[in-house]
Amino acid sequence: MSAASFPEGFVWGVSTSAFQIEGATTADGRGPSIWDGFSADRAEACDHYRRRTEDVRLMKDLGIAAYRFSVSWARVIPDGCGKVNTAGLGFYDRLLDELLAAGITPYATLYHWDLPQALEDRGGWPVRDTARHFADYAAAVHERLGDRVDTWFTVNEPWVAAFLGYGSGIHAPGRTSAADAFRSAHHMLLAHGLGVQALRAAGAAKVSAVVNHSPVLTPAQVSDSGRELSEEDAEAVARIDALANRQFLDPMLRGAYPADLIPLIERHAGLGHVRDGDLDVIAQPIDLLGVNYYAPLVVQAQPSEPADPAFPGSEGVLFCTVPTAVTAMGWPIVPGCLSQLLGRLSREYPETDLMITENGADFVDVVTGDGIHDVDRISFIEEHLRALRSAIENGARVRGYFVWTLLDNLEWADGYQRKFGLVHVDFATQKRRLKDSARWYRDVIARNGLTETRARRPTLETVAARARVSRATVSRVVNGETSVSPEVRATVMRAVRELGYVPNAAARSLVTRRTNTVALVLSVPGQGGDPLTAAVVQYVTSMLEGAGKQITLMLADTAESHRRIASHVEARLADGVVLLPPDRADTLAERLSRTGVPIVLLGKPAVASLVPYVDVDNAGGAAAATEHLIARGRRHIGMICGPMDLTFVQDRLAGHRAALHRAGMRPLLALADDLTRASGAAAARRLIGDNPSLDAIFASGDQLAIGALRAAQEAGRRVPENLAIAGFDDVDAASATTPQLTTVRVPVADQALALARLLLSRLEGRHVTSVVLPARLVVRDST
Ligand code: FCB
Repeated sequence: MSAASFPEGFVWGVSTSAFQIEGATTADGRGPSIWDGFSADRAEACDHYRRRTEDVRLMKDLGIAAYRFSVSWARVIPDGCGKVNTAGLGFYDRLLDELLAAGITPYATLYHWDLPQALEDRGGWPVRDTARHFADYAAAVHERLGDRVDTWFTVNEPWVAAFLGYGSGIHAPGRTSAADAFRSAHHMLLAHGLGVQALRAAGAAKVSAVVNHSPVLTPAQVSDSGRELSEEDAEAVARIDALANRQFLDPMLRGAYPADLIPLIERHAGLGHVRDGDLDVIAQPIDLLGVNYYAPLVVQAQPSEPADPAFPGSEGVLFCTVPTAVTAMGWPIVPGCLSQLLGRLSREYPETDLMITENGADFVDVVTGDGIHDVDRISFIEEHLRALRSAIENGARVRGYFVWTLLDNLEWADGYQRKFGLVHVDFATQKRRLKDSARWYRDVIARNGLTETRARRPTLETVAARARVSRATVSRVVNGETSVSPEVRATVMRAVRELGYVPNAAARSLVTRRTNTVALVLSVPGQGGDPLTAAVVQYVTSMLEGAGKQITLMLADTAESHRRIASHVEARLADGVVLLPPDRADTLAERLSRTGVPIVLLGKPAVASLVPYVDVDNAGGAAAATEHLIARGRRHIGMICGPMDLTFVQDRLAGHRAALHRAGMRPLLALADDLTRASGAAAARRLIGDNPSLDAIFASGDQLAIGALRAAQEAGRRVPENLAIAGFDDVDAASATTPQLTTVRVPVADQALALARLLLSRLEGRHVTSVVLPARLVVRDST
């Protein structure tokens, strides 16, 4: 075997399932299935029932060697049991003939989740009889098709069918009972065993089942698979592994439930449904095991965590999201887990040959005039094939690989929005179009492997340079964002083609994925905004968390931190950013706004920009304070201004000046280097020293005002009798001074809530405008 080729005779295929592609749900006497009405989307799917011939030709043109399809039970036996509908079987009869004529080996799955509704009405999978009816159905199908099917698979992914169908209820039939889920699982296993017996009795040569396998690991093990686990984490991992994987593998391949699972089954469902002899039936010898692999399950021990309804008995286990690349489904991309999984199966069940019966990915496809350049999918499959190859080299006996899936189709509860196909389907016209991945897979099959070395990949930078656009623009185009003009898109796609650019999975999904995370960036506190900062952190966090977002808190204090934050956002590790307050020169705000990630600011930026912000009416508040002093008869009003590069200080000064101007008075200003009490005291001493007739001070911040109050009293001035003092912000300390401080109240909570709302609107893609909230004067004793 050369560096990248696969063993001779390795089977290259694609998989589909009846309900997901066939449509024609009432044709030729088909009965209803539990999925017909369950998914909100209409069940026409790919109309494969009528376009069978075209689809077989498509596979032939791609050089597909094997086709795994499923038979619809409700087509064959509309009532689930009893009378066989020969017209329904006729469809598969013709399909098999056409497959064989095209040189494609047929692999048939008998149960891919579409239980006849009539059987669900009699209790569904929690009822034992369903398993018996399945065996009759298997025999009926074999009788008509047995001469042409190469390999039979009894059930597909019983975990999903049992625990999502009857446990969490997100799949049909949508029941939510842990007891029903465990009983369904057992009866599906039993159906498998009885089905194998029926098929063998009828003379079937190769019989198997398909399990979904999700390696279970902790977040730390995602990057370091050898990582030692704490006792608690090891227990959490083992428990979920028993529920998801060993619950099916052990009965099928060892004739026993895993010892650590039995108490969980017993607690939720009792053990009455597991009858003597069942496990012997379930453990019929099989010729190979079909393994579906998409993603690992990442968990850790977390004592307070309630059970996930899809995993009854998972109390105290947290299902984690991990910072890896993900598909559009949000499934982490971890090809290494495929090699580990194959290694494990080969070690623990050494008698059983393996076949990857499903592996593939949902990514957002962009249909362009010149094709569908689904580089993500190619890269996903390629990486998994490399992982598979290394497992084979290490001794795993894997006979073949089936891509999920041939056509974009009806992805169960998610409907048509998911795109797993090598072939694009326009559901308005049913037109099929090859994606780049289909052509790429054709080449893999033709050479029985991958190219020796991964072509040296041009990077995002190379493409950006060639197309003369930014990296972010390339990412946006590659990821199908609509914000790019058609001309720019065309230029970028040309560069992508010419260079043969295939982004690596991590970089790629870092720019596409929705992280559900929002970065909350705090720049240097200490500018008098601390209470505001605290409130914003509290309110923004709780509101965004309420909307299902996670918050990453980042501090922007040094140039290095600005770089770190910018690259975090550029790498799309956050869907949105709340920045508060903008740094003085606004370089960070500027830089972040160029990433295209929605950003909102607390406070008006110094440099006018299109970035939406939330602010208070600083000028109006300062004018109100000044007018109040004038109304109280003050004629010589000094103002202490904080640092003049702060936008809100400039605005407060402008409001103060405007009010004085209207009253025909002139400003007396003292600058403070910062917004502290000490600076306020120093500025007040200067104002008092320079202006003997000074009768009022307005300070641009409360801490400045408090400092001024102290300095005035120390200088022997009586407040408010011969010197009135007003501040701005209404911090808590303002009402704790003697006398209590008159000040302008900033609506802290409202600002925070407005900020969160603004960001949520932006995340939903809505156009937003900045928000300026009124500031209200609070008159106390100091004036
Ligand atoms: C598997 C199913 C298949 C499809 C893929 C995405 O669990 O067997 O029908 O839904 O996932």
